[in-house]
Amino acid sequence: MMNTTELNSVEIARWDSSHARWAELMQACSDLGHGADLEAKTADYHLGLYTLVAFTPHEVVGLLRFWTQQIGLDEDKPLLLIEGEPTIEAKSVAFAVRPEFRRQGIGRRLQEAAIEWARELGCYQLRSRSYYSCQENHALKLSMGFAIQPAVQKEAHPSAYFVLPL
Ligand SMILES: CC(C)(COP(=O)(O)OP(=O)(O)OC[C@H]1O[C@@H](n2cnc3c(N)ncnc32)[C@H](O)[C@@H]1OP(=O)(O)O)[C@@H](O)C(=O)NCCC(=O)NCCS
Repeated sequence: MMNTTELNSVEIARWDSSHARWAELMQACSDLGHGADLEAKTADYHLGLYTLVAFTPHEVVGLLRFWTQQIGLDEDKPLLLIEGEPTIEAKSVAFAVRPEFRRQGIGRRLQEAAIEWARELGCYQLRSRSYYSCQENHALKLSMGFAIQPAVQKEAHPSAYFVLPL
């Protein structure tokens, strides 16, 4: 666990690939097993890929990356229209905090920053998918008011969607 001075120096900011510390972020994604491969996985129905980073002057300590997309297409469903207009959601696809920085509110700050950004982008909702085993992530999402919908896909490990209306 970090001392107060180190925690106070954790900032949350929006980064893109032109950021001077982008390579450091990619290394953190790789270390944490979240979000290093998203550029390669981007599909034609993704409208944008957005990256929030928790960092100190010395290291990247957490990250949240989300795609914006038209609701329905990533589930192989027709595009959902409301009053003839496509509906847009933010889908969080990478979210992690370094173990030694956990349980200090950084994950919650990353989610709050994602909510703010997704609202600015005109999204109806923030959604993510998580395996049943990710208990700490579920506790965080429930404490923030997300709803749960078990995913229907047949898979070895069950998962659920977490959805927050914006
Ligand atoms: C999920 C994760 C990002 C949370 O980050 P974090 O910085 O520790 O989260 P926070 O400190 O902001 O926690 C906020 C709230 O979530 C809940 N929570 C978080 N971790 C918890 C745990 N281990 N047990 C119970 N509740 C927990 C609590 O309600 C907590 O509030 P509190 O500390 O005031 O009680 C982090 O645990 C992690 O990186 N896990 C591994 C990767 C992962 O599961 N990613 C999710 C996609 S599968």
